Amino acid sequence: MHPLAYTHFKKMVLDALNDNIVLYSVSAYRSFKDQASIYQNYVKKDGEEKANKYSAKPGTSEHQTGLAVDINTCFTKDHFEKTKEAKWLSNNAYKYGFILRYPKDKEKITGYIYEPWHYRYVGIKAATFIYQSEITFEEYYDIMIENKEV
Ligand code: DAL
Ligand code: ZN
Repeated sequence: MHPLAYTHFKKMVLDALNDNIVLYSVSAYRSFKDQASIYQNYVKKDGEEKANKYSAKPGTSEHQTGLAVDINTCFTKDHFEKTKEAKWLSNNAYKYGFILRYPKDKEKITGYIYEPWHYRYVGIKAATFIYQSEITFEEYYDIMIENKEV
């Protein structure tokens, strides 16, 4: 992981443990080669159109930046969203600079289906703004970088 993301992830994991919440990374930094192999396997399994909704083409995954982390699972069928860990994360991750990157019902904006396990480090200030405004990273980018109304 990127050192800043790692430091904050570690702090979040330790604080969560105090609340009896067990968090761990199942996938964080991935090289281009790692992502290519993950993506190809999903294309083989589900076809390109379906795979593109949940797996990023190599070169476009934010896992390659070292800022993203899949926490506890990366499978929809595990119903992670129903766990106390997912709930804790959705309420607290912003305090450590992480955002839920692919929220529910935001597929049209983010390009990806709901991934309750995928968090991205953006820094505490940006994460707090995104959390409190209930916006996606794309909308944050439009407001802050492009100066667009959303
Ligand atoms: N699952 C996310 C979109 C990725 O492959 O980076
Ligand atoms: Zn992920």
